[in-house]
Amino acid sequence: ASTLRDAAEANGKWMGVAVADGKLGNSTYTGIAGGQFSSVTPENVMKWDTIEPSRNSFNFAGGDRLVDFAQAHDQQVYGHTLVWHNQLPNWVSNGGFSASELTSVMNNHITNVVSHFAGDVKYWDVVNEVFNEDGTLRPSVFSSTLGQSFIATAFRTAHAADPNAKLCINDYNTETANAKSNALYSLVSSLLSQGVPIDCVGFQSHLILDQVNGSAIQSNMQRFADLGLEVNVTELDIRMNTPSDSTRLQRQATQYASVVDACLAVSACGGITVWGVSDADSWVPNTFPGEGAALLYDESYQPKPAYNGVLTAF
Ligand code: XIL
Repeated sequence: ASTLRDAAEANGKWMGVAVADGKLGNSTYTGIAGGQFSSVTPENVMKWDTIEPSRNSFNFAGGDRLVDFAQAHDQQVYGHTLVWHNQLPNWVSNGGFSASELTSVMNNHITNVVSHFAGDVKYWDVVNEVFNEDGTLRPSVFSSTLGQSFIATAFRTAHAADPNAKLCINDYNTETANAKSNALYSLVSSLLSQGVPIDCVGFQSHLILDQVNGSAIQSNMQRFADLGLEVNVTELDIRMNTPSDSTRLQRQATQYASVVDACLAVSACGGITVWGVSDADSWVPNTFPGEGAALLYDESYQPKPAYNGVLTAF
């Protein structure tokens, strides 16, 4: 195959990328995003602060642009994200809502967003990052006001708004077996036993060079798959200290390939999304100062060894 999307598709998987709304005017960027990938995730424009900046006032413009882009390039849309403690507007986090008020605020958000995109968004990250590293529930306005039950409520509300969307729970540092992924495993097991409509688990996979263990990723994905869930790699990047050098870029290629191999070995793995087109687009340098070079294309939009590592692993 000569594109990532064709290589993935030949194995029954999709290959996705996070798309930044502000880059849709750059033809180099859109040529790669549209040509190499079969799935797109909005990097920011479907988050709560963008889409419902004030109560019951919805801004779907960026999300609609992403859907149009996807349709023009024969791509699926992976919706991200309905309920998250970050990029949450103040009117929600500091609104002083009672439990019943916050339930109606959350359900109104989910219902409006999911209904608007019904038929155009195939997957939703219904809840994002609900756990601490030790596996306890992360403090947020949702957990502190409603307890853990906000999670089941969010899934049921999303399902009612679009019964055909695949509904996922998404998190980071859950790629291998540890306290956080064990808590996630317990939660999704309990949601399934209660009949909560959950279809998939997303593993963000913001990984660090030389700390990637493909077989541990595979076995962890498999235990979730064995519950009957789809498993997806949703935000993959493999960062390193910058500036990069050729030996580390070669190791990065091998480590990207090991993630592809893990997905290929798990039949319930739907696909892999990388968190940005190029190193010029990545969130990493802003979030982890001194680190970067985490994606498949360099800052000049030239394919890196990691690009070939992914292409040939499929
Ligand atoms: C990041 C975006 O890439 C940045 O542009 C934004 O400033 C902050 O959020 N986990 C997630 C993503 O689920 O939504 C985050 O995206 C990266 C970490």
